[in-house]
Amino acid sequence: MKIIILGSAAGGGFPQWNCACRMCAAARAGTPGVLPRTQSSVAVSADGIHWFLLNASPDVGQQLAQTPALHPAGGVRHSPVAGVVLTNADVDHIAGLLSLRERHAFSLYATARVHQVLAANPIFAVLNPEVVARRPLVLEEEAELMLPGGEPAGLIVTAVAVPGKVALWLEDAARADFGSVAGDSIGLRIADPAGGSTFWYLPGCAAMPAGLAARLDGADLLLFDGTTWRDDEMLRGGTGAKTGRRMGHMSMAGEDGSIAVLAGVNVARRIFIHINNTNPVLLPRSAERVAAAAAGWEIAWDGMEIDL
Ligand code: MLT
Ligand code: MN
Ligand code: ZN
Repeated sequence: MKIIILGSAAGGGFPQWNCACRMCAAARAGTPGVLPRTQSSVAVSADGIHWFLLNASPDVGQQLAQTPALHPAGGVRHSPVAGVVLTNADVDHIAGLLSLRERHAFSLYATARVHQVLAANPIFAVLNPEVVARRPLVLEEEAELMLPGGEPAGLIVTAVAVPGKVALWLEDAARADFGSVAGDSIGLRIADPAGGSTFWYLPGCAAMPAGLAARLDGADLLLFDGTTWRDDEMLRGGTGAKTGRRMGHMSMAGEDGSIAVLAGVNVARRIFIHINNTNPVLLPRSAERVAAAAAGWEIAWDGMEIDL
């Protein structure tokens, strides 16, 4: 199984267009080691020929352009993109769908809840359902990803409900938990039965129940929510009024942070993705980056390739 990190930043990207915090300024200035990052997306393939995008970033055009494996390679009209799998309806995960029009046939996988959100927004009809097949992800059911022609792609996906919330733009302030329901935010377990490898992709996870941590045990790779280092870093830095938890993300640091809570989980490789532009791990020599590395965590970068 092959994995390419297309976009390692959280919503807004790095640098974010309207942010002049010290981190975004360093990225904008081209400071050595401070790599710009596009918004949240991963590509996966069992055969290196047919690829599935895990989330469709607003930056998908740039991501496809800078990834040779995803360039057209067969005829006048072609793309190796065989499908898109969504983990939620956040803008950073669905806006790229609008750039994948042009009558390229692919399969679009999401929970019923996220499919409903797309169906309720007529602009997503630019992906004509006759060309782009909507396929369901049912929580806790293994689904074999299909190529547009109906052949199996060699990847088995399981959608798992994770602590989180409804997309920011769908929040209902009058309702408990902002109107979130099961299926609004999922994690993915992806297995390549032929190659015998498994990884987890959880770009948004608000907490780590013991049951979920136990399920991660034994995986070859964990791609995990790296939005914030500290829960209150946006408030402290003056870039925002929300905590990470309020946005549906657990932090890296602290007793209940992901580094500590996942320390005892046995995964061959652990990598933070969906990293917010306020997170100091983006600076290569920061104390936070050193601490994360010492705890065994890698920090994803755009173009990072992983063979499992
Ligand atoms: C998130 O991950 O919390 C969202 O991408 C926030 C947003 O939509 O801006
Ligand atoms: Mn996001
Ligand atoms: Zn910034």
